[in-house]
Amino acid sequence: NLTGAILFIHFILFVCSVCVCVSYYIGRRPIVIIADPDMLRQVMVKEFNKFPNRMTVRGMTKPMSDSLIMLKGEQWKRVRSILTPTFSAAKMKEMVPLINMATETLLRNLKSHAESGNSVNIHKCFGCFTMDVIASVAFGTQVDSQNNPDDPFVNHASKFFAFTFFKPIMIFFMAFPFLLKPLAGLLPNKSRDEMNSFFIKCIQKMIKQRDDLPPEQRRRDFLQLMLDVRTGNKYMSLEHFDVVNDADEQACTEQGMDSGQENGPGNESTKRAQQKRMMTEDEIVGQSFIFLLAGYETSSNTLAFACYLLALHPECQKKLQEEVDEFFSRHETADYTNVQELKYLDMVISESLRLYPPAFRFARDVDQDTVVNGQLLPKGSSLEIATGFLHTDPEHWTEPEKFIPERFTPEAKASRHPFVYLPFGAGPRSCVGMRLAQLEIKMALLHIFRRFNMMACEDTEVPLELKSHTTLGPKNGILVKITKRENFEDES
Ligand code: HEM
Repeated sequence: NLTGAILFIHFILFVCSVCVCVSYYIGRRPIVIIADPDMLRQVMVKEFNKFPNRMTVRGMTKPMSDSLIMLKGEQWKRVRSILTPTFSAAKMKEMVPLINMATETLLRNLKSHAESGNSVNIHKCFGCFTMDVIASVAFGTQVDSQNNPDDPFVNHASKFFAFTFFKPIMIFFMAFPFLLKPLAGLLPNKSRDEMNSFFIKCIQKMIKQRDDLPPEQRRRDFLQLMLDVRTGNKYMSLEHFDVVNDADEQACTEQGMDSGQENGPGNESTKRAQQKRMMTEDEIVGQSFIFLLAGYETSSNTLAFACYLLALHPECQKKLQEEVDEFFSRHETADYTNVQELKYLDMVISESLRLYPPAFRFARDVDQDTVVNGQLLPKGSSLEIATGFLHTDPEHWTEPEKFIPERFTPEAKASRHPFVYLPFGAGPRSCVGMRLAQLEIKMALLHIFRRFNMMACEDTEVPLELKSHTTLGPKNGILVKITKRENFEDES
């Protein structure tokens, strides 16, 4: 086809420097692939100011264009500074009851699969589970996609995943951005427009409903946390923004501001480094939307990959179940604080994300000519961070293709370069939802392996066929068999 032919001609691969990075072109835009951990540290953390943005994708429409993933410069800093504290440990604790509701439905469904004796597509189950979680924590809406796949919300969300940025036409526009304006009108995308307007209307309606409620009846979800700063008249400091990336640290700074600088930004010099702590309604819609997108597939793929690996490695599954049983001999319920005690569970998730990182590549734009480790990165080019490659590079991992959770003991981690493992990115632009993702994944696995065993069966695809047009995921789902654990007393 035409697009494919154009792409073929314009993907000119040339080696810039042996082993350090490789480049290719999309149209006239040079893309430099980086997989050297020292260079990555430089780009993502030390010299972040020169690479603060992701790759420009022209022609992006609302609400996507207002989302954190796409925002740039000062606007991104302002919105990110507001959102980071909404993922603090304290806020995560408030999300636990919302996650628990979706987990209960998941467990009930898995129980009936276990009783049926048939193999189950665990990837599909987790897709519904993470959709329920994200709809609840981000949009403040209770959907039951696990039992009602025809719910209009679920239906529209799944449409988005059918529309991907990696469609040939999107790459064509990245290659020839000057053609976008004249051609965009000729190429209407009905499904995308319908989906965008569904979400915009949906979120606007929710905002209106919230505003009509007395404050004490408003749900404590991300939507409310954002609405609380809608008409903010407080100022926040962006001066040290690129070195402060810890949600809790920012929450402290925020409290400091609350007490000290209620209505005024202070003198002129501080004013320059400060911005009003507020978000517009469009920005709120944009963030709710990106939470759904970024939080749905990534988390469900991780859960499914972890179960697949545990089904293929019964000795690891047994070890995990022992840890889980021991946990419940000490605690009646799981919460944000005590799940952090589950060290082996954490290692299993880390190793699953190493072998199958859902965000297997991501990008940065080069804002100014910069020499990094002797390599010129020219202004106007884009950097592609090759996580998938790094995670299996035999230079950093022995027997990289094997599932070995012990690679993530504190000692093993300390002996490695930290930038060879980047499932959530790194630096100020890293994944803002990491804590939420880890929490929901841990909660789900903890309860599942307390109650069930997972086994590979004749329907389990080994090796897995993967797809990578949006996130890295299983191409044909993941089929396993589930049985109930004998020693678990089911109270339901
Ligand atoms: C296992 C689950 C997840 C994985 C593996 C993952 C991975 C990533 C990665 C690799 C990035 C790019 C980081 C960089 O450029 O340095 C990213 C960005 C982002 N993620 Fe996640 N993510 C996950 C879950 C979530 C969840 C649950 C949410 C929201 C509720 C979320 C929201 C975002 C947002 C908004 C960004 C853009 C941040 C910015 O540009 O400032 N992610 N994620």
